[in-house]
Amino acid sequence: MTSTQRSFLLSQTRDWTPLEVVEIATEVVPAAASSGRPIIEVEHLRKSFRQADQQVVALDDISFQVEPGEIFGVMGLSGAGKSTLIRCINLLERPDGGVIRVAGEEITRLRGPALMAARRRIGMIFQQFNLMASRTVAANVAFPLEIAGWPRSRIRQRVATLLELVGLSDRANAYPNQLSGGQKQRVGIARALAPEPVVLLSDEATSALDPETTLSVLGLLRRINREMGLTILMITHEMQVIREVCHRVGVIDHGRLVEVGPVSQVFSRPQSPMARRLLRAHLSNDVPADLLARPRSDGRQLVRLTFLGEVAEQPIVAQLVRELPVLVNVLYGRIDRLGGQPWGRLVVELSGPPAAVASACARLRREGVEVEELGVPEPATIQQAGANGLGKDRDEQDEANEQSQLAEPVPGVAARADVRGGAA
Ligand SMILES: Nc1ncnc2c1ncn2[C@@H]1O[C@H](COP(=O)(O)OP(=O)(O)OP(=O)(O)O)[C@@H](O)[C@H]1O
Ligand SMILES: [Mg+2]
Repeated sequence: MTSTQRSFLLSQTRDWTPLEVVEIATEVVPAAASSGRPIIEVEHLRKSFRQADQQVVALDDISFQVEPGEIFGVMGLSGAGKSTLIRCINLLERPDGGVIRVAGEEITRLRGPALMAARRRIGMIFQQFNLMASRTVAANVAFPLEIAGWPRSRIRQRVATLLELVGLSDRANAYPNQLSGGQKQRVGIARALAPEPVVLLSDEATSALDPETTLSVLGLLRRINREMGLTILMITHEMQVIREVCHRVGVIDHGRLVEVGPVSQVFSRPQSPMARRLLRAHLSNDVPADLLARPRSDGRQLVRLTFLGEVAEQPIVAQLVRELPVLVNVLYGRIDRLGGQPWGRLVVELSGPPAAVASACARLRREGVEVEELGVPEPATIQQAGANGLGKDRDEQDEANEQSQLAEPVPGVAARADVRGGAA
């Protein structure tokens, strides 16, 4: 154990307030990120299952790396292969092919006692906690240390330290059925951390918890990551969880890894159809369909502006209005943080002489703002749109908008195609 880890463990005595949780969640850089070797290396991983007389390909040539000290999220639809991936990384499932290295050790070559030892360096937490009902909280946390043959006095000390870390010192002698879901997960986290793992795997660890408890468990994981430098590989179907705690994210679609990148990039500009589908709620619904369909006279341009990183903190729109003969009418706005970076989205109507509106858009792009023109429908185009679907009722129209968002690489382009009749 490093001295940072030790002093961190000794200093933990309390729960965190929502404000602290937000503060923890908005930390920009992984505390222990280093330029060293990746802590998890997955190369050409393949895994199939036999179901009745069919072969199901759960993982199809997956390759990626997780850097030391980062929280790496994996998202995908149900059945995409997320749990199989995490179970291959600690060899609860043996891959059909490919190589997995954890902290430089090729664990796919290990068997018997060597594999058992390697597994102790890989902690795991589960959606249903997987605690032993007949053991107390303290005995659950002690269990992996007993298996590993630690001396009793050292186990007692370690368990006390970990229960303090997860805020459960006063429940050491309780049984799992006397605990809330959040408390059970804290025991699960303490148990996973007991053998001093180098990585922590989490399979839907907050999916069974209410939103407030989820926040508090995420705060604990984020704090463990930040202050102990523990790398976390986290699987979840909750986009909010990835958005709040992960640094990078991978997207799995039918057993294939279709996209990997920083959360700020994948969430603001998803490239793969699956990422756009998973993030649909996050991306869409910021331009009501009736607003898009409303005709605009000359010199009025509806645009969606996306600010990411430093540019989100500059008064760019105010400067624009001061320096160019354009008016900016804000119709929708949202400010948030993605993967610790400031992120903002504004839907505005720019009005003024056409040349000034065009140079306003160019100027915004030069400043690093993503500018998506949401269309300037002309009467003829609107008629055509009606014939192609925009004359339908609101639900169908919304559905058409969503479909086009899935089909097009850039959400704004999709919106424009839709307004122009979905023919593009
Ligand atoms: N032990 C098994 N035997 C047979 N098929 C399996 C087994 N485990 C997983 N599968 C199949 O592999 C595919 C991927 O399953 P997996 O559990 O990894 O999905 P998942 O992404 O974790 O889904 P969910 O979000 O529902 O948990 C599915 O088609 C599943 O039916
Ligand atoms: Mg699963």
